[in-house]
Formats: sequence, structure tokens, C-alpha cells
Amino acid sequence: MSSINRHAKHITATVVGNKRIGQYHQILLSVGDIVQSTHPGNFVAISVGGENSAMILRRAFAISRISHRSDKGDGTMELIVAPHGSGSRWLCAQPEGASLDVIAPLGTAFGIPTAPAQALLVGGGYGSAPLFGLAEVLKSRGCRVDMILGASTASKIYAPIEGKRSVNSLKIYTEDGSAGISGKVTDPIPGLIQEGVVDVIYSCGPMAMLAAISRIANAAEVVHQCAVEESMACGIGVCMTCVLPVENSEGETKMLRSCIEGPVMDGANVQWELVGKVAK
Ligand SMILES: Cc1cc2nc3c(=O)[nH]c(=O)nc-3n(C[C@H](O)[C@H](O)[C@H](O)COP(=O)(O)OP(=O)(O)OC[C@H]3O[C@@H](n4cnc5c(N)ncnc54)[C@H](O)[C@@H]3O)c2cc1C
Ligand code: FES
Repeated sequence: MSSINRHAKHITATVVGNKRIGQYHQILLSVGDIVQSTHPGNFVAISVGGENSAMILRRAFAISRISHRSDKGDGTMELIVAPHGSGSRWLCAQPEGASLDVIAPLGTAFGIPTAPAQALLVGGGYGSAPLFGLAEVLKSRGCRVDMILGASTASKIYAPIEGKRSVNSLKIYTEDGSAGISGKVTDPIPGLIQEGVVDVIYSCGPMAMLAAISRIANAAEVVHQCAVEESMACGIGVCMTCVLPVENSEGETKMLRSCIEGPVMDGANVQWELVGKVAK
């Protein structure tokens, strides 16, 4: 594994909680001491289907939050899972006490400002999951944290009550107007930048949303760190299914593995118009 994944471990994690929240499952795993080296933006790769399953590929999930058991140096990890295909449905059906084959923590993490800054966190659908853990870290470093969450409809918004405590403000946008403000999560961003209340944007959600935020952030020269969710078959840098076109400091476009050089990337460097068009 590359130096980015130098803390990754292959472990057996125990499910210690599995609660349905709207369309999602909040799954709590006891993961031992890997919480010490886990940072907002990192993800896990989980084996699904049990020992004799034909589902040989691990599934990737963002780490939403971690908690430490102060006395022992170990702790728990929270995942927010949408029961979507056969692997994620299997995961959502795991009861308390079940054992899971997990590799974590994987990938890059969100960069934290060295001085207090005004951070805008933008999440689409379950993409809000890693932003709550990030908000806790930013608040603890003296940053102002404004969060906007969006989805097509109310049931696809993930905004836990306890998560609201870690942000200064939270606004919800739904495209069908079933919750919060009617519209897209990107609608308010240009206005907020103009008001001078955004030093850095952090985002996670569908690729089209990340591309739209990058266009706004680039035009206003605001730093934009995004956690991409390109399909991943291995999650550990071997299969090359997750590559994205990214411009380097020499102005050349290289295909980078989003499981190694991501999932957190500088939105200004991703060549969004080439995503899916350049041969992998
Ligand atoms: C970094 C990252 C973070 C994520 N975080 C979350 C999260 O927090 N919550 C959540 O609900 N979902 C998350 N996802 C999406 C999640 O990984 C998928 O929804 C999940 O893999 C679906 O598995 P499935 O068996 O239910 O679906 P299926 O559609 O049955 O299987 C999907 C699996 O097939 C493989 N696959 C399919 N197409 C391709 C392809 N083109 N290239 C390579 N492999 C392919 C992959 O292994 C993929 O995991 C994340 C994905 C990534 C990459
Ligand atoms: S998912 Fe296999 S190299 Fe990234």
C-alpha cells in the first residue's frame, strides 16, 4: 500500500449498532485502535456477503465519525449506508454482534486550516456523512462552520440531530421542495462567497454536484476540497478502476487513482469535463 495508506489495517470489526435513519442505515463498528489514525475524509473497504459469497469486490464507504474510548485507546467508527445494491443491502441487514472484514483507514483526508477560517461544508445525499466528523474537527480548531445539505427529496437528506451541534448554521435544499428551501444545494454558494463568509469549501456528494461547486469556487478563487465517489473495485490501489483526470503542477493531465490520491482532492485540479471521457 502507498504511504497514504500506511496506517491501514485489515481487521475484524464488530457491529455495535445498526439504526435506520430515513433512507439510510447508521452503522456503528467497534474497530479497535485504528481510530487513532483515522481522519475526516478517510474511507473503509468492507467485504460483503459472508465467507462463501460471490460478491468478491469490497465495497467502499466514507467514515462518517469516530469516537474514542478515552481509557483504552480504541473506539468506534460510524458509517451511513444507503441500501442500494446487493452488497450494501447485506451490510444494512447485519445485526449487532456481527463480525465484518474491514480494511481502514484508507485514502486521503480533508486538509484542516492552520488558523481559524470560515468553512462552508456542502453535502449531497449520503455525502453529508463525512462532513459531520469534519465539522467537529474544524469547530475544535476555532473555525466557523456553515453547512448546506441537498438532495432530490427530503428522505435522501442525512442530517442527524446530534450533528447539528457541530455546525454554526445548517440549511437544507431539496429539488422537489419537500424539505427546507426548494432548489439545488449549489444555488446559495455564489451569494455566500460574495458576502465574504467563505474562506474554504469542503464537499462530498455526487460527481455532478462536485463539478458544479468546482466551477463556482474556481471562478471566485476559493479553495475547494472535495471527496470524490468514483466507483472503486479494490479500494487499495491495485485495479485502476477508480482513476480520474487530474492536472498536475506542470499543467499535464494525469489519470490518478481516487482511492489513493483521493478520495479528497483539490477540486480545481480535477478535469471535470474529462471525467468518464478519457480512456481509463
Ligand atoms: C470513497 C467512497 C465512499 C463512499 N461512501 C458511501 C457512503 O458513505 N454511503 C453509501 O451508502 N455509499 C457510499 N459509497 C458508495 C458505495 O460504495 C456503493 O453504493 C456500494 O459499493 C454499492 O454496493 P452494492 O453491492 O450495494 O451495489 P452494486 O451496484 O451491486 O455493486 C457495486 C460494486 O460493484 C463494483 N463496481 C460496479 N461498477 C464498477 C465500476 N465501473 N468500476 C469498478 N467497480 C465497479 C464495485 O465494487 C462496487 O462497490 C461510497 C463510494 C466510494 C467510492
Ligand atoms: S479502486 Fe482499485 S485502484 Fe482504486
